[in-house]
Amino acid sequence: MDATMHLLGPLSQQYSQLGLGSQIGVGFIAFLVVSVILNVLMQTLLKNSNEPPVVFHWFPIIGSTITYGMDPPRFFVENRAKYGDVFTFVLLGRKTTVCLGPAGNDFVLNGKIRDVNAEEIYTVLTTPVFGRDVVYDCPNSKLMEQKKFMKIALTTEAFRQYVPIISDEVTSYFKRTADFKGQLGEVSIPPKMAEITIFTASHALQGKAIRDQFDESLAALYHDLDMGFSPINFTFHWAPLPWNNRRDHAQRTVAKLYMETIKRRRANPELDAQDMMFHLMNSTYKNGVQVPDHEIAHMMIALLMAGQHSSSSTSSWIMLLLASRPDIMEDLYQEQINALGPDLPPLQYEDLAKLPLHGAIVKETLRLHAPIHSIMRAVKQPLHVPGTKFVIPTNHVLMSAPGVSASDPVFFPKPDLWDPHRWLPDSPNAPSLSRAPAGEDEEKIDYGYGLVSKGAASPYLPFGAGRHRCIGEQFANVQLQTIIVEVVRLFKFRNVDSSNKVIGTDYASLFSRPLEPAVIHWERREQA
Ligand code: HEM
Repeated sequence: MDATMHLLGPLSQQYSQLGLGSQIGVGFIAFLVVSVILNVLMQTLLKNSNEPPVVFHWFPIIGSTITYGMDPPRFFVENRAKYGDVFTFVLLGRKTTVCLGPAGNDFVLNGKIRDVNAEEIYTVLTTPVFGRDVVYDCPNSKLMEQKKFMKIALTTEAFRQYVPIISDEVTSYFKRTADFKGQLGEVSIPPKMAEITIFTASHALQGKAIRDQFDESLAALYHDLDMGFSPINFTFHWAPLPWNNRRDHAQRTVAKLYMETIKRRRANPELDAQDMMFHLMNSTYKNGVQVPDHEIAHMMIALLMAGQHSSSSTSSWIMLLLASRPDIMEDLYQEQINALGPDLPPLQYEDLAKLPLHGAIVKETLRLHAPIHSIMRAVKQPLHVPGTKFVIPTNHVLMSAPGVSASDPVFFPKPDLWDPHRWLPDSPNAPSLSRAPAGEDEEKIDYGYGLVSKGAASPYLPFGAGRHRCIGEQFANVQLQTIIVEVVRLFKFRNVDSSNKVIGTDYASLFSRPLEPAVIHWERREQA
């Protein structure tokens, strides 16, 4: 005690002689040092053996945010090697427990409604962008009904109409876009695929009148809505920051536009329409209430946004991967000629089933580049992780990352190789799934929006599982395969340096996508 006083005496004297700025600086460093020491001591001395191991981190609150944020898949794989399939890390001050592997996928994605909750996590981001009373701004049972209404519009009959619409949008895009003038050139492909995705999705799902407005005001408004989805908004969604003000203005303007369209359509009833808005206008909740116009408008925004990021990122990856493997692009061209004839007639929905390599391109790209790398749930009551002694407390967030099992050598030989042929018969790299992925004979369950596979213990789940499973899978497949067909008919792609390299991933937004610029070399098959 005496020695301490001897030491502290002169120190405190020196401290009081410092200017105010220096005193604050020294105080801050002292605070930082003490909190780091306390944080490390707590991790080493106060381990709770009934809770999953915690990824070591120096700083409280920051925890592993930076290493996770820079490259989530690498973070998962490295820590899985250290801690196993179930571990906790600190993400922006919140203890986040990741459950990996097929069992982990099942545990999180098939969690019971009384155990796990998605809306508590996502509402802060989605409600200001989509609007009130839909998706995560309503009880889960209402979302299940909304998903049912949306899914009903995505029928085979509707897809038959969508394929020619998507084909036309793609071909006319390449005809009119300055970057594709001439016989050959170089272009950063992701912004082009983003435009093609929004034009094809808006035209197919929302009709020509809405699509035409994307050439004018709507593209900028949707861009402003998009800005609401930045990760920083998990914390600052409420703040009167410029991008939040623009987000709120865009939400009001776009919703108003949809509501005016609905009013016009109600005034002039149509009998044979197939589009999403028409289906929602004629849907009624179980309690007898007809879906109100503002909810229809907000669901229209939600649908377009849900599909835009994922499909645009996936189509960009597909084009970049084809540029890295021109031989596979040629395989696709040959597949079309063999299956559809050398004159390559206008594509029909039924043709897609005759083009298995085109389907495999989408599957394999989603295996390595699923746009949603982390799926989160709030924990509603202490959760025992089957097969372990761990119980996850309610102050943790639960996280699933099906991308980890999708690139695990246990299930996918040569996991880092983009090999679309692995999904076709007799491939040496065929997936050896511990159990078959959702097949015809698998047990199914209906959460309220149609039958889906009951189990989620599959290593390959790019569209999620359980009550929050994607309803846009078939639409995305139709859209992406049609885009591939049309691009392959028009172009040969290669990397600018003719190498097989593929650009890295940008994890800065909520959806992973290729880093930009991602430039490819294109050449027309026929004289322009
Ligand atoms: C949900 C992936 C395209 C609409 C999901 C989920 C995933 C996913 C992983 C589950 C999220 C969770 O559990 O929290 C994808 C991928 C796509 C795609 C990889 C394209 C390649 C689309 C499209 C639409 C759509 C085109 C609309 C037409 C939805 C909706 C949900 C959903 C409404 C339900 C959200 C919930 O129930 O919480 N999607 N999606 N998706 N997706 Fe997709």
